[in-house]
Amino acid sequence: MTFPMHQDAAAAAVFRRTMVLLLLLLMFSLSSFPSVTAECPDKCWCQEVRVYCSYQGLDRIPNSISPATKLLDLDYNEIRDIESLAHLTELETLYFSNNNISEVKNGAFSNLSQLQALYLHRNKIENIETGVFNNLTSLKVLHLDYNNIHKLDLEMFKGLTKLNRLYLSNNNISEVKNGAFSNLSQLQALFLHRNKIENIETGAFNNLVSLKVLQLDYNNIHKLDLEMFKGLTKLNRLFLDHNMIRNIPPGTLDSLTSLSILQLDHNPLTCDCNILLFVKVLKKNYPQRDVLGNYDPSCHFPVEMSEKSLKEITENDFNCTSPQIIVVPEKKTVSVGEQLQLSCKVVGDPEPYIMWAKDDINLELGKRVQVFQNNTLIISKVERTDGGQYKCVASNYLGRKSFEAMVNVYGLTEND
Ligand SMILES: *[C@@H]1O[C@H](CO)[C@@H](O)[C@H](O)[C@H]1NC(C)=O
Ligand SMILES: *[C@@H]1O[C@H](CO)[C@@H](O)[C@H](O)[C@H]1NC(C)=O
Ligand SMILES: *[C@@H]1O[C@H](CO)[C@@H](O)[C@H](O)[C@H]1NC(C)=O
Ligand SMILES: *[C@@H]1O[C@H](CO)[C@@H](O)[C@H](O)[C@H]1NC(C)=O
Ligand SMILES: *[C@@H]1O[C@H](CO)[C@@H](O)[C@H](O)[C@H]1NC(C)=O
Ligand SMILES: *[C@@H]1O[C@H](CO)[C@@H](O)[C@H](O)[C@H]1NC(C)=O
Ligand SMILES: *[C@@H]1O[C@H](CO)[C@@H](O)[C@H](O)[C@H]1NC(C)=O
Repeated sequence: MTFPMHQDAAAAAVFRRTMVLLLLLLMFSLSSFPSVTAECPDKCWCQEVRVYCSYQGLDRIPNSISPATKLLDLDYNEIRDIESLAHLTELETLYFSNNNISEVKNGAFSNLSQLQALYLHRNKIENIETGVFNNLTSLKVLHLDYNNIHKLDLEMFKGLTKLNRLYLSNNNISEVKNGAFSNLSQLQALFLHRNKIENIETGAFNNLVSLKVLQLDYNNIHKLDLEMFKGLTKLNRLFLDHNMIRNIPPGTLDSLTSLSILQLDHNPLTCDCNILLFVKVLKKNYPQRDVLGNYDPSCHFPVEMSEKSLKEITENDFNCTSPQIIVVPEKKTVSVGEQLQLSCKVVGDPEPYIMWAKDDINLELGKRVQVFQNNTLIISKVERTDGGQYKCVASNYLGRKSFEAMVNVYGLTEND
């Protein structure tokens, strides 16, 4: 490189020195720039520890995302696989909704122990491998709604002990097994609406001691059992509308001391003395509140009561009666080895519940001692110790009746 010789040599030297200085300054300023900005992936824009890449038609997670990233937005892309997240150990928020993910493989999130919010809704997720979420010990919000999830694995949410809100609505879940939510003691809201849930195993919700909102609407639930909502003392809003519920056992909601809204409309409810009692218990347990609110559920059966509001039914609509015994057990004498049969026929509305006792101790049922659908007690191969005072106890909420019969057993004694 030559300088025009007729120019002042000193001036040229000053110019050269200035150029070098400028170059050095430029290099220095580049290298001292925040590295996140320097490494911002193609098609994304970055701001401090946040990386935004939504609506970019991406089909994979970009490389070169800084390990310091705390927020990563990949919403609205066409990504099929979750990979290359393992180095993002500082990640707190991950937006991954509206992509093409069909499977979430083990290890996908295993290094994200700082993650607090994970958005995976509106993908095509069918399969979630066991343990995928196990390391997400800081996670508070998990969106899995609008996917194609069929099955909730018992271990699926095991490690999510900080989880606060779980969105599982608009999937294809047909069953909720006991244990699926067993570790979620911090969970405050569980969204399971718009699935195909038919069966909820006894105890499935019993560990959710912090739960305030439970949405089970728009499913195929036929039956509520007495234990289903046991222990949910914080539950404030319960949505059961748009299901196939016919009966509600009167004690079903007894645990729900914080309830303020119960949505029950659009169920084929059978109005009978049981539902009448349920409504009475509701009024008694929540004297200050109208928990059924504006979502006025109505009777579906019997036909002559259809469309009648649950809030309006009274004793006059039914013939509620305490248990009336039609066939009483009779005094019997049997020999050792013979069969003993004791009958007890009872009517009442609601249908009475029957228990058998011997010498005032409830009978332990098993192979040899059985009680059949018709409430008949049959003991095959009577033993000497079977002798005693037998009692049939029939009860419903309107009353309780019992009848006794003596049974004598003849035959070999222990010494014979
Ligand atoms: C993502 O899913 C959409 C809708 O199903 C489809 O049109 C598109 O081709 C898919 N893209 C990729 C990359 O799989
Ligand atoms: C997970 O994080 C640890 C450090 O916390 C790191 O040593 C390991 O390489 C990471 N795993 C992957 C697959 O990057
Ligand atoms: C994360 O999970 C893997 C198994 O998937 C386990 O080996 C690893 O120790 C866990 N890491 C942390 C930080 O808990
Ligand atoms: C989850 O709950 C099971 C019992 O249902 C228990 O054995 C296990 O230790 C719990 N796991 C965590 C991470 O709390
Ligand atoms: C939902 O699951 C049922 C079987 O349980 C299946 O027949 C149906 O096609 C599934 N629906 C969708 C949208 O995948
Ligand atoms: C109650 O019983 C009476 C007499 O048995 C009967 O006339 C009436 O129709 C019954 N009412 C209902 C609601 O079943
Ligand atoms: C009750 O049912 C059992 C078993 O089906 C039968 O053996 C018994 O004869 C029945 N008793 C009455 C009184 O109908």
